[in-house]
Amino acid sequence: MYRIAIDGPGGAGKSSVAKMVAKACGIIYVDTGALYRTVALYMIKNGIDIDNEDAVRSALESVKITLSFSDGVQKIFLCGEDVGDSIRTPEISMAASKVSAIRSVRDFLLDTQRSIAAEQSVIMDGRDIGSVILPDAEIKIFLTASPEARARRRCDELHAKGIDVQYETVLKEMNERDRNDSTRALSPCIRVKDAVLIDNSKITLEETRDKILRLIRKRMDKKFKLYIALKATLGWAVRFIMRLKVHGKENLPLAGGALLCPNHITLMDAPALASSLPRQIRFMAKAEIFNVPVIGAVVKSTGAIKVDRRGSDVGAIKSAISKIKNGDIVAVFPQGTRRAGLNPADTKIKNGAGMIAFRAHCPVIPVAIKTKNNRFRLFRKYEIFIGKPIGYDSLFPDPKVPDYRASSEKIFSEICRIGGFIPTKTEDK
Ligand code: DC
Repeated sequence: MYRIAIDGPGGAGKSSVAKMVAKACGIIYVDTGALYRTVALYMIKNGIDIDNEDAVRSALESVKITLSFSDGVQKIFLCGEDVGDSIRTPEISMAASKVSAIRSVRDFLLDTQRSIAAEQSVIMDGRDIGSVILPDAEIKIFLTASPEARARRRCDELHAKGIDVQYETVLKEMNERDRNDSTRALSPCIRVKDAVLIDNSKITLEETRDKILRLIRKRMDKKFKLYIALKATLGWAVRFIMRLKVHGKENLPLAGGALLCPNHITLMDAPALASSLPRQIRFMAKAEIFNVPVIGAVVKSTGAIKVDRRGSDVGAIKSAISKIKNGDIVAVFPQGTRRAGLNPADTKIKNGAGMIAFRAHCPVIPVAIKTKNNRFRLFRKYEIFIGKPIGYDSLFPDPKVPDYRASSEKIFSEICRIGGFIPTKTEDK
């Protein structure tokens, strides 16, 4: 599990960017500002004076907020009713800023926020996520932009929703809200010292997203220090000897968990991928390899998952799933074993790839490996084709009845398609 905290003033694009990052990483996005907005909505609807702290505190007893997440998207229910866009008006923005300065309101929402992040990987945005709510978050970002850029974006957002506002009014209100949020005594909106500052006044949301994804990857890669060092020193030799060509590197997600599924031809498949892909890959490798001198140590350093092939190794599968959920890429060969000299399209596959993808709720990256024979086996030419990720939804159209066979076949047929492997016989299926 990992937690990403994004704090910063309103209009910096926190929620749009956080949604994009959540989607790319397959984790949920928690919009904490919406919780304060919902409290404000309750107070206004029920005629509570938000300048009267005692009145707000006693009204909180009747506020029932529940959250639901579908496909990573948050929905908020106030006393059982979906609040939808009713919390997005300028009136609620101002009221939310006021109620958020009241201690009883902050205490009231604290557990809700922490408990969501205790159960799953999240990206959470707000004002005090890195400082108060998740001080141990693995990644902290302070996202900001100039007041003018933020006011312009807010204006565009409101106009798109059909709300008629003037730029000058939005800018004035935004400055007032900034002042409230950053100077209040309780959990002011500040950049904590371990948060990375991103000013996106002059860059697009997509560029901001990619910056954050790279940052996430950098932090996650810390556990692969030795692997990265080996790749930098020995990797070139592997790539040179194998005369390796890699196509489609850009298809590899910048960050986030995924299952990588290559066809399996030779013992060099794993080193070829491990040394040439831009991200660190954890292979599911047979236990025997770990005992081979030197090679075993190298395999171990890449964070490979040991698989005991005498039965179905449930522990290894569980470990693969938890690593993916933790944001890593795990590789498994759908064919289960090496099928040297055979056309991959004619070989049998196992159901493991589909099962892991389902349980880890992750995208699958199909990879086709092709070799050209040479008189010296070691020097045969290698070519790797990385396909576009196959989304969880397309693998499991009905997640209530996951079909591991059909999903594994779909993954493998994509591998065959990108590798140009055409079936010639069916006996081996
Ligand atoms: O991010 P937003 O504009 O939806 O937030 C609405 C208000 O809630 C904002 O004025 C500040 C407050 N807020 C807060 O104090 N702490 C948070 N974690 C999130 C929002």
